[in-house]
Amino acid sequence: MSDSKREPAPGSTTGAGAPAPSDRNSLTIGSDGPILLHDVHFLEQMAHFNREKVPERQPHAKGAGAFGVFETTEDVSAYTKAALFQPGCKTEMLARFSTVAGEAGSPDTWRDVRGFSLKFYTSEGNYDLVGNNTPVFFVRDPMKFPHFIRSQKRLPDSGLRDNHMQWDFWTLNPETAHQVTYLMGDRGLPRSWRHMNGYGSHTYMWVNGRGERFWVKYHFHTQQGMESFTNAQAMEMAGRDADYHRRDLFEAIARGDCPSWVLSVQVMPYDDAKAYRINPFDLTKTWSHRDYPLIKVGTMTLNHNPDNFFAEIEQAAFSPGSIVPGIGLSPDKMLLGRAFAYNDAQRNRIGTNFHQLPVNRPRVPMNSYMFDGQMAYEHTGNQPVYAPNSGGRSWADSTGRMEDGWEADGEMLRSAYALRADDDDFSQPGALVREVFDDAQRDRLVETVAGSLLGGVRSPVLERAFEYWKNVDAEIGRRIEEKVRSGSAPEPASGMSEA
Ligand code: HEM
Repeated sequence: MSDSKREPAPGSTTGAGAPAPSDRNSLTIGSDGPILLHDVHFLEQMAHFNREKVPERQPHAKGAGAFGVFETTEDVSAYTKAALFQPGCKTEMLARFSTVAGEAGSPDTWRDVRGFSLKFYTSEGNYDLVGNNTPVFFVRDPMKFPHFIRSQKRLPDSGLRDNHMQWDFWTLNPETAHQVTYLMGDRGLPRSWRHMNGYGSHTYMWVNGRGERFWVKYHFHTQQGMESFTNAQAMEMAGRDADYHRRDLFEAIARGDCPSWVLSVQVMPYDDAKAYRINPFDLTKTWSHRDYPLIKVGTMTLNHNPDNFFAEIEQAAFSPGSIVPGIGLSPDKMLLGRAFAYNDAQRNRIGTNFHQLPVNRPRVPMNSYMFDGQMAYEHTGNQPVYAPNSGGRSWADSTGRMEDGWEADGEMLRSAYALRADDDDFSQPGALVREVFDDAQRDRLVETVAGSLLGGVRSPVLERAFEYWKNVDAEIGRRIEEKVRSGSAPEPASGMSEA
């Protein structure tokens, strides 16, 4: 709501709605005397203040977002029956963008992957797509995720971030090479959130009205053009305006310059997955666009700033587990790990009934057996509290084959994915460097990696890092080693040099 539309400010009240005695002076005996215990209003203010933060998100703490609309402009009903993706459907939505490793007050322009979280308030319940500005990720088994995030955060003794620790993790886990190449490239420093693409990254399932299944990957292409900062620009901005990306989005929308993205999907017929030359569920890989070209779906436009940052952004709860009919998960182990992790984090971060908050509440009736608990607000009156029951609401009961399921068989074991013909850790990042980056991008990559390695990375991690890059591309690796050995790299990449 803009200021001009606001009602004249009412007088301040207590939490119970009665007129507040004063927001200026506490109650004392005489002007200089002691404060009285029966200044309930003062005590309430103190007590609430002590409780008015919720824990920041474990990763992706620094971010902001806006509301908007997604319009399906094309006909993709051959692939999904999901209501939001039917031709002409307009769905209200929320987007939140973020950095991964920085804390809630950290600079927006530190080099990092950027989060790209979307919540669609569909007619079949909320659909969340919680992606990044890169199409791949660092690891492919969720068991490694907490270790990965800890290695990007802070040292146990000094509380400092540490390049050595970051490169230690990356070089000991070579499947990180593809995402690290993106991170050290221009995508690690988007000029603004408006100037970056978004990806679902994982492979998801779509199911059409005939029950046919497909595997899909989501690509949101910015209509503002992709733009990045250089290391020097990003570092200067981190000092000048730590909230630059947050400010940029808010101010753009406030002046009516509403950013938009076009959604396209790659669609793989269900049976193709069995024999495709790479594991199509491996989150460190992309699918060839020659094999699976982009199919346009629609446009997302952000057109409405939050009225209240805490209520609508900080308390927003996105989860890859929130799916709707016509959309399913996939055998991607990372995705299955995430399907649990988010709502659990939110029960801890926001509270048991986080889904009842206006920003998270579906726009369709919620008729759940999850009730009571702290801060329960929505309720279903005098409906039976158990299922099955002899009156009131019935229980959900779909049995048999899941329409968005897949076949699985085998012994229980702990193992990496079985390798396919073209599965290796370095071919795709190598192709990215050689075939997608131009000369200037390759130069910037070498400078950024060398700068980061010079920011405190020691033996044997340093030698492993040279090897890692030579595996990505022999020439790039040689140039990185040469720069580091001669000590001639410029300032380390912003945000990665505090140790
Ligand atoms: C097993 C792997 C992963 C786990 C366990 C995990 C866990 C988490 C957790 C606990 C949060 C905080 C949620 C909250 O407090 O509301 C979070 C945030 C986030 N994660 Fe992940 N994550 C994983 C992988 C990924 C991947 C692969 C992506 C992108 C493709 C991703 C993108 C995000 C984004 C964008 C956010 C911020 C959500 C928001 O805007 O509120 N994460 N993650």
